[in-house]
Amino acid sequence: MGEGKNWRTVILRISALRVKSFLHEANGARLTHRFAPAFLGMLFYNSRRDEPATPERWVAARFGRMCLIPTRTEAWQLLCEYTQNENLRKHALAVEACVRAYARKFGADEEFWGITALLHDFDYERWPNEERHPTEGHPSEGAKILRERGYPEEMIRAILAHADYTGVPRTSLLEHVLFACDELAGFLTACALVKPNKSIHEVEPASVQKKLKDKAFARGVNRDDVRRGAEELGIPLEEHIGFCIQAMRSIADQLGLAGHASAPARPADSAAQGGAD
Ligand SMILES: [Fe+2]
Repeated sequence: MGEGKNWRTVILRISALRVKSFLHEANGARLTHRFAPAFLGMLFYNSRRDEPATPERWVAARFGRMCLIPTRTEAWQLLCEYTQNENLRKHALAVEACVRAYARKFGADEEFWGITALLHDFDYERWPNEERHPTEGHPSEGAKILRERGYPEEMIRAILAHADYTGVPRTSLLEHVLFACDELAGFLTACALVKPNKSIHEVEPASVQKKLKDKAFARGVNRDDVRRGAEELGIPLEEHIGFCIQAMRSIADQLGLAGHASAPARPADSAAQGGAD
């Protein structure tokens, strides 16, 4: 009897989800396509969570995430509101492209991962936090803003965890991917800018690995973070570098790294890359 009541509650919540999803769709958010995976996921539970995975709790968690996740347009506007520097915006786009590519590789929620990556440094220009304070400045100030907006904790946690000094340990795949792509995307940009055509199409993994050993080149990039990023993913560094080069090539024009002989973006890449609104 009690179990039947629980399921009636679940069905009622699902109906509410449908209405909410429709309303979001009407506002331009792409949520309807998430409903079917959410329903199936509810049936099989969310194995990534530690707490008891009751259907009701699963739906509540999923419902909250679906309601509060920003659209990419909203995320881009937030980034631009706090970040005037074009290079920082391009860095956000580069990391987004890499993280989106990994989301596709791992079969994860590409939109959610991409938006998280786009926002990972949005507060950096205003609060650079050179002293690396664990709870003030970047990325903690940004996290406060995201929380005020009601954005998902899963997203905020990944953003906090990409900076070791916050003390937030990386546990989810998204957190590992964001960390692995952040510093490397910066290094690949530096590698492209010293090429004759300043093009990411001229950058190859072998030359990147050689430059990683050159301490005088791109001193600001933490080599240890680059290596640890690949290790955390369990992917050989050369493969990780090649993967991120391909991802950045897909939006070379937006990154200002297309050079004179830029290759046209492949349809699969351009469909998934997002890009600046
Ligand atoms: Fe970054």
